[in-house]
This record gives sequence, structure tokens and C-alpha cells, in this order.
Amino acid sequence: MVAVAILAAGKGTRMKSTLPKVLHRLGGLTLVERVLESCRSLNPERQLLIVGYQADAVRAQFQGRIDVEFVEQRQQLGTGHAIQQLLPHLQGYQGDLLVLNGDAPLLRPETLQQLMQTHQQHQNVATVLTAHLPNPKGYGRVFCDGNNHVTQIVEDRDCNDAQRKNHRINGGIYCFHWPRLAAILPQLQANNDQQEYYLTDVVQFLQPVMAMDVEDHLEISGINDRKQLASAYEVLQNRIKDQWMAAGVTLINPDSITIDDTVQIGTDVVIEPHSHLRGKTILGNGCRIGPGSLLEDSVVGEGTSILYSVVSQSTIASHCRIGPYSHLRGGAEISDHCRIGNFVEIKKSQIGPQTNVAHLSYLGDARLGERVNVGAGTITANYDGVNKHQTNIGNGTKTGANSVFVAPVTLGNSVTVAAGSVVTHDVPSDALVIARSRQRVIENWNIQPAPPASDS
Ligand code: UD1
Ligand code: MG
Repeated sequence: MVAVAILAAGKGTRMKSTLPKVLHRLGGLTLVERVLESCRSLNPERQLLIVGYQADAVRAQFQGRIDVEFVEQRQQLGTGHAIQQLLPHLQGYQGDLLVLNGDAPLLRPETLQQLMQTHQQHQNVATVLTAHLPNPKGYGRVFCDGNNHVTQIVEDRDCNDAQRKNHRINGGIYCFHWPRLAAILPQLQANNDQQEYYLTDVVQFLQPVMAMDVEDHLEISGINDRKQLASAYEVLQNRIKDQWMAAGVTLINPDSITIDDTVQIGTDVVIEPHSHLRGKTILGNGCRIGPGSLLEDSVVGEGTSILYSVVSQSTIASHCRIGPYSHLRGGAEISDHCRIGNFVEIKKSQIGPQTNVAHLSYLGDARLGERVNVGAGTITANYDGVNKHQTNIGNGTKTGANSVFVAPVTLGNSVTVAAGSVVTHDVPSDALVIARSRQRVIENWNIQPAPPASDS
């Protein structure tokens, strides 16, 4: 039985931001969402978020999530004071309490499971996650007796010179037997350099408190400024990329690629330099992405290639060739074996199988059938300044270069559209439509008549 409390009331002054620290993003998720995610596999029966600075903004982030409870710490008087706020909420609760920091988003679920196991196996009153850091500056130092039982945690600023030489630090992640912690929480005092109520002071009243070292100290890195945010992003990216390479994905020049941890990738996918995969993007087997492509919340079928292109909120089926320089957005749906080429923008349109839109086109609010050939420079005029209108183009139709479809308009199957046409009315199947003025040639236009001869 475990409840989780996440400390997220602080402002995060060193971020120099109008946003509370825990709402800064790391990849596709905010810091606090990541922390919450890291304890999901423990199936906590309660998840309490301690909020204070811009509490409403933090609450809004979790709108609609009934599994998260909010506890307000109106004044931020320290980590111990934050945990004291749980007292009325956890009255009578008899289980363990896992305390996590809202600004430490790199914890692995396995580490938390190990912490819980150690805690339960040894029947500890508290278990503290610790690490040995080459540079422990800024962290609380953990002092243990010969049995690995914690005797004291001293904040960096409260350490004397000898204490500061101890490189074993407090990760700020703890498991407590709640009834024992609850009993001593009211006794905390703020007699330290910062005049705050330190949660770390409780170890002096609880026995036994055990320390558990984390193998990879990067896991407990807290984020206090933008530089640490960037470093954490790098750690996260390396983890994600290692995982995909192990699963059969080729990354060419991985340092230039970014992949959100919400992305899914099939086998034998090749991702070329300077490509970025974001959000809920899913790539089928054997795709080739990049160089230089950005995909966001999009689904790509098998064997499709996307070169120097931007794709967002769109679906591309199998064996398509996209790019270079295509822009698919806002509900573009491309069927199998299509070719979408240079400087083509497609928005909220369904493109049937084996259709080609090879150059310089804009298709918005359109439905194209199969085997359509869209000539260079074809444009749907879908917006009349107030409303968006639909263009329909049937199977096997060919649009001439530089044609404009003034929506709403429908073309049947196997229509031929003459180049340069501005089509304003529907066209039946198998017709030829020419909607432009006939060419006139006025001969000798530039041959001036000879000036009249002068009398003089
Ligand atoms: C804390 C620990 C330190 C440990 C370090 C690990 C204490 C006294 N010190 O120090 O031993 O090495 O974490 O990162 O606990 N918060 C609140 N309310 C408050 C104060 C803080 O919710 O009144 C939240 C902050 O938003 C943050 C977390 O608690 O998410 C930690 O607070 P922070 O001020 O960063 O503590 P540290 O000085 O880093
Ligand atoms: Mg901190």
C-alpha cells in the first residue's frame, strides 16, 4: 500500500521564468508530469500534489485527471512544512508514503520499485535514496552509521568544512511509514540557515532510516535552472535513442536527432540527421525519415520516405514519397503509394491512393480520389474570407498546371483540366474543362507605322 506525494509548491527562482518550475517542459511532458509518470508502475492508491506558487496553473495542467489530488501549501516554508500539509489529508492512513520532488524528472520506475522493496524488506521506518556525487555542492549530505542507517542529513549551507567533504548526498526521494512520520512531523523546527522546516530533520526522530544508493546519479538530478534543464534533456534523449537503436532503428548522427518518449517506431526505420519526432508520432517498419524532417503527432505507414519536410497532425499511409519540402498539416490524410513533392502544402484533405501532387500546390479542405495527377501550381481556393469550402476531385482526374479550384466545387472521374483554368463550377466525369480566356494574338503590335513625311 503506497501513497505518493510530489513536492511542487516552489517557484523555481533560478529558472527566471513566469512559469512555475514544475511546468517547464522536458520533451513532450512537463517536469511534474514526468515525475508522476515515473511512479505509475507502483500503482499508488493516492497521488497528492503539493502546490503553492501559481497553484492554479499547476492544477490546470492536470484538468480532468481525477486520480491526482491537490494539497495547497500557501506559504513555502520548506520541504518539511510542505509534507506537514498532508496531515489532514492522510488522517488514519496506515501505509507507506513515497515522497518525490517535482523538479527531479529523470527517475527510473525501476529505481522507485527498488526503493520500495528495500524499504519493505527491511521494515524501515524510512528509506532515503542517496548517491555519491563527484561534485556534491548544493545537496544535503547524508551521514550513516556502520549499518547504513542514516543518523543525520545536513544541508550544504549548514555543513561545517568536515561535513562538506562527505560526497554522499540526499536525492530528496524518500519512502516513509506514514503513521510514524505523521507522529513526529509537528515537532519540526526551523532553526537552520534558511529558517525553513526541513523534511530531512525527521531522520533524527525515526529509527531505522536506511540509505539506498542509486547506481546512476543522473537519475536524481534536480532541475533548478535552464542549464540543468538542457542537461536533463540530453540525458533523456540518450536514453530514448539507446532504446530505439537496441530495438532495431538506425539513427544517423544521433546527436542531431531528437525523439520524444511518446513516439513509437517500427523496425528497420532509418532516421537521418536533423530530424525531430514529437508527440504521439508513430512510424511503421522500414520508413526513412530525413534528413531534415519534423514530424509531430503523425502516423506514417510502412516503407514511406519523408525528406526535408514538416508533417503535423497528419496520417501518411505506406510506400509514399514525401518531399523534399512538403508541408502536411492539420488532418492531411495521404493514402498508399502517393507522391507529394516540393513546395506542396496539404491541410485537412484526403488524398486517394497512387495520387501525385508533385510540385508547388496548396490543397486545403479537399478530397482527391485515386490516381489523380495534380499539375504543378494547382491551388484550392478554399476560403472566401469567412468560411472554408470543400473541393472534390474524382479518380484519374488530371489538373493542368496552375489551375485554381474555387470551392465549393466538384470534379468527376477522369476529368482533364486545362492549364491555367480557374474552375468555379462543377465538372462531370470524362469532361475537359477549360476555364480561361482564349488566347488572342494581335499581329504587328510592335511595328510602328512610319511617321508622316515632313513638308519642310
Ligand atoms: C532538498 C533537500 C536536500 C536534497 C535536495 C535534492 C531539504 C531540506 N533538502 O534541497 O537535502 O539534497 O532536495 O534535490 O529537503 N518545495 C515545496 N515547498 C517548500 C519548499 C520546497 O513544495 O516550501 C518543493 C520544491 O518545489 C521542490 C522540492 O520541494 O520541488 C525541493 O525543494 P528545493 O528548495 O529545491 O530543495 P533543495 O534545496 O534542492
Ligand atoms: Mg532542488
